[in-house]
Amino acid sequence: MKFKGQHILSTKQFDKNGLLAFFEVVKKMEKVLEDAVIHGKQSKLCEGKILATLFYEPSTRTRFSFETAMLRLGGRVISNFDMLKTSSAVKMETLFDTGKVVSQMADVIAMRHPEVGSVAELARFSDVPVINAGDGSGDHPTQGLLDVYTIWKEKRKLNGLTVGIIGDLKHSRVFHSQCEILKFFNVNFVLISPKALSLPDKFKKEIGKFVEVEDLSKVIDDLDVISVNRIQTERFQSEKEAEKFRGKFVVSSSIMKKAKKDAIILCPLPRREELPMEIDNDPRAKYFEQIKNGVCVRMALFCEIFGVTV
Ligand code: NCD
Repeated sequence: MKFKGQHILSTKQFDKNGLLAFFEVVKKMEKVLEDAVIHGKQSKLCEGKILATLFYEPSTRTRFSFETAMLRLGGRVISNFDMLKTSSAVKMETLFDTGKVVSQMADVIAMRHPEVGSVAELARFSDVPVINAGDGSGDHPTQGLLDVYTIWKEKRKLNGLTVGIIGDLKHSRVFHSQCEILKFFNVNFVLISPKALSLPDKFKKEIGKFVEVEDLSKVIDDLDVISVNRIQTERFQSEKEAEKFRGKFVVSSSIMKKAKKDAIILCPLPRREELPMEIDNDPRAKYFEQIKNGVCVRMALFCEIFGVTV
């Protein structure tokens, strides 16, 4: 697994040993971040570098996380969070041209787009590395990395864990990325969703062995990791269609009474009813820790892409 000078477009680029080595770099970044936040010591690891964030789809965490990571490393950021409406996309500029153009100005690009494959399209003509910050229901490699890093950090292992993936497995790119990364470790996959929202076959093939159920309460006491994500309403034919599935999976405090004492709850956020605020104070809830881990993951990624050693 090589990051230096590379595009990061897909979780398919990763491998087991590369991931474990990368997680060690992320751990070092936790110290760099702490030095900055607590001791006011600005890192210069990416001094002089410019990140361009091109977002064609809404985002709160992911864009801020990429930008924070670059700023914490002493680099700078240029950003458009509304590309569909305010960039030359309006004038029908192709993704190829946009990639070529922006790469004459920035040293690295992070991009999100509603269509599967669009980030790879922009990357084809970019002269600098492009990172996929989510392409439709396809992939979200940095979210997958930060989710699995959080599991590795919290549980101090990956092999042998029972991981429950709960909700809209059909459309959630986050779940797809999690599966593609966790498949390298000997985890027991428990896929929890209504049949209509089950994990697409191509991902089932990748993970090999798994259990599929529709009712979370039947398996909750087996899970070491409870990974939940909202119904991806924007990827349904209609909002009404998505509404049918809302509220079917709620990680409530009553269901958490049956969960293992040392289980962890992950969610990429945003959340709706599937993750009520009543469990935010449950020590097993790790979704706000994930945010900080995400900044460290992206810091590590920039250092690796630029070949900066910590
Ligand atoms: C996710 C995404 O955009 O895929 N959010 C994120 O990146 N933190 C999950 C979601 O939108 O439900």
